[in-house]
Amino acid sequence: MIKIANVSKVFENGKTKLEAVKDISLKINKGEIFGIIGLSGAGKSTLIRCLNRLEEPTEGKIFINDLELTSLNKEDLRLARKNIGMIFQHFNLLDQKTVYENIAFPLRLEKLGKKQIDARVNQLLEYVDLKDKKNNYPSQLSGGQKQRVAIARAIANNPKILLSDEGTSALDPKTTKSILELLKKIRDEFNITIVMITHQMEVVKEICDRVAIMENGQIVEINTVENLFKNPKTKVAHSFINSLQGNVEEEIINPKNYKGKIIRLSFMGDSAKKPIVSKVIRNFNIDVNILSGNINKLHASSIGNLTLELIGEDDEINNALLFLKNESVHVEVI
Ligand SMILES: Nc1ncnc2c1ncn2[C@@H]1O[C@H](COP(=O)(O)OP(=O)(O)O)[C@@H](O)[C@H]1O
Ligand SMILES: [Mg+2]
Repeated sequence: MIKIANVSKVFENGKTKLEAVKDISLKINKGEIFGIIGLSGAGKSTLIRCLNRLEEPTEGKIFINDLELTSLNKEDLRLARKNIGMIFQHFNLLDQKTVYENIAFPLRLEKLGKKQIDARVNQLLEYVDLKDKKNNYPSQLSGGQKQRVAIARAIANNPKILLSDEGTSALDPKTTKSILELLKKIRDEFNITIVMITHQMEVVKEICDRVAIMENGQIVEINTVENLFKNPKTKVAHSFINSLQGNVEEEIINPKNYKGKIIRLSFMGDSAKKPIVSKVIRNFNIDVNILSGNINKLHASSIGNLTLELIGEDDEINNALLFLKNESVHVEVI
């Protein structure tokens, strides 16, 4: 478990002060894939770098399980960091060293014997499917292959936590998918906790269990991914969902511009398959105008959203709303 307690980070440059992270508190469960999404400059990298003290928090505490990371001296911090692997957008491999040597690097720091290192590196090469690239240099690899090397290096010492700072942002969609699958496999097999920093909603949708949305150094919304898609609360959450490819732009609808009642329906799993809208039209004396809609396939389920204008007598509309609620559709009157 990771616990972030009232963490702030202020960068001081001469006279200017910049508060990149503002009083963030957060708990991340063991084995969870936790996303932190936000636009560029939101403070995501600063926050994740505080988690292993690559950046020293100005205020607040970081706990890994029950160990307070923020109180450790250099040597204890070095030991604690063995439990935290990290990958980056631009891979950060050692260009002058082969794939083998890159993966062996953290094992050499641990002063393992030659045989032990050889066995572990070969095992990792197999795991990330790069056996045939063992003696290649990073410049001879594709982006996806480089990230696989970086992942193998990050998990070489069997960490309990893996941090990814935009680990798929430099990759094309297909490669992104394969890297996300690898990360998921690592979580499932080793019960590692993964913190994924990203500005891509695709990443959140694909593998995260929960997500926090960051804006201006603060967390403005935190939820399970399912509930975020069902019922996003902030404007920035709406716009991240809209940014997904294939989603019809879900405008922020101003009910004042419509004469009917505006409702937003969210449905998941089985309720997505029922002909709910046609039932409403047939059973109640109202007209229905579809304003926008989308369906998102998450890793565990599908979530559909539909914004409708209902036109008719109040009583009929209220009965229709009751009917919808009974069909286990989430209804929000806008
Ligand atoms: N070392 C630094 N010195 C001064 N300002 C910094 C430093 N690192 C980040 N910042 C500033 O902190 C803010 C948050 O940056 P960052 O954490 O990199 O955001 P994100 O990863 O969400 O794009 C930005 O305004 C950035 O310019
Ligand atoms: Mg960043």
